[in-house]
Amino acid sequence: MFAGMGRKKGFKLGPSRRAQEISPFLVMDILERAKELERQGQSIIHLEIGEPDFDTPAVIKDAAYRAMAAGETQYTHSQGLIELREALSQHYLEKYGVWVKPEQFIVTSGTSPAMVLVFAGLLDPGDQVLLTDPHYACYPNFIRLVDAVPRYVPVTEEEGFQFRPEDLRGHLTPRTKAIIINSPANPTGTLLSAERMAALAESGPYIVSDEIYHGLVYAGREHTILEFTDQAFVINGFSKLYAMTGWRLGYLIAPEDFVRPLQKLMQNFFISANPFVQRAGIAALTQTGPEIQKMRATYDARRRFLLAGLKTLGFRIPVPPTGAFYVFVNARHLSEDSYALAFDILEKARVGVTPGIDFGPGGEGFLRFSYANSLENLAEALKRLERYLAGC
Ligand SMILES: Cc1ncc(COP(=O)(O)O)c(C=O)c1O
Repeated sequence: MFAGMGRKKGFKLGPSRRAQEISPFLVMDILERAKELERQGQSIIHLEIGEPDFDTPAVIKDAAYRAMAAGETQYTHSQGLIELREALSQHYLEKYGVWVKPEQFIVTSGTSPAMVLVFAGLLDPGDQVLLTDPHYACYPNFIRLVDAVPRYVPVTEEEGFQFRPEDLRGHLTPRTKAIIINSPANPTGTLLSAERMAALAESGPYIVSDEIYHGLVYAGREHTILEFTDQAFVINGFSKLYAMTGWRLGYLIAPEDFVRPLQKLMQNFFISANPFVQRAGIAALTQTGPEIQKMRATYDARRRFLLAGLKTLGFRIPVPPTGAFYVFVNARHLSEDSYALAFDILEKARVGVTPGIDFGPGGEGFLRFSYANSLENLAEALKRLERYLAGC
């Protein structure tokens, strides 16, 4: 088939402006080149990928097998199985002491679709959303999808790249509809304090709190935004804590007056999440305690090891990360161009890292290292980086 075959002349051709203009996820460029080098027989250490290296716990898989064998293969309630929503409600009560009605949850096929629903249900064209710069790479694209406008608030390394509520003043306008927070954060691994969350909750716009790295915290404790306000949206999912990235299971929590509008969006665009994956989610919430604690302790050991190693290599880390599985380091003494630097490190040191520019202009000059990899591989990566830096 030739391009354009079967089309009448005079009609518009090609992908939409939106599809043409969306920015690529640069880490995928690194990953694709890394895979090419591996095909050529090179050994690459992958510290670029933001994905647990653990297999999903067996008890979660068993729950899915059982549900599938029992014939749970059809659509569920558009908001998700009531048993899963009750388990989630119980989880928020036990962990944070907040009461969220099961009716306030909408279960989705991952955190990403939950973000689509929240922004589609909250934002009109031209509405503004504040986010830190740097931030999770995909946030601005979710916002632009509904013709709203991402507005970046610069944050500093010395503040752990998190919002200082007083810095919002110059950025709030009558069109500011929401503020996104992400604690622990990707790409920085840092947390937002309870005091700052409380101040943000008071600042006026709705808070959209991405809590996907909750549970992966190694010092202090994480807070849900719902401890401070009920005028907020939580998005969360099972990908990271339960090592379930490929399962595609997430959820949102909405203020009561938003539930019906968001449910209508869910019904139209996604119908429901997968039934046996939802059963697996119940097992994840209720039966994985010790296994999750083991994974968390393993991440923590790796975190300490990587932090010490990077410091020995001359990287300055003023606020050590205490959550997620990332270290975001200033590499401006090596290059101002993080994309070129990440490729150079890949080609010469055979270590995959993510360029900071992937996370917004405020990330330029930084590199993100993921420690979702074994201690042996981290040790080898540090050795390779040492040799690379000696040759710089
Ligand atoms: C901060 C953050 N939010 C959301 C997501 C998307 O997660 P999910 O796999 O649940 O769609 C990711 C994935 O890397 C993330 O880092």
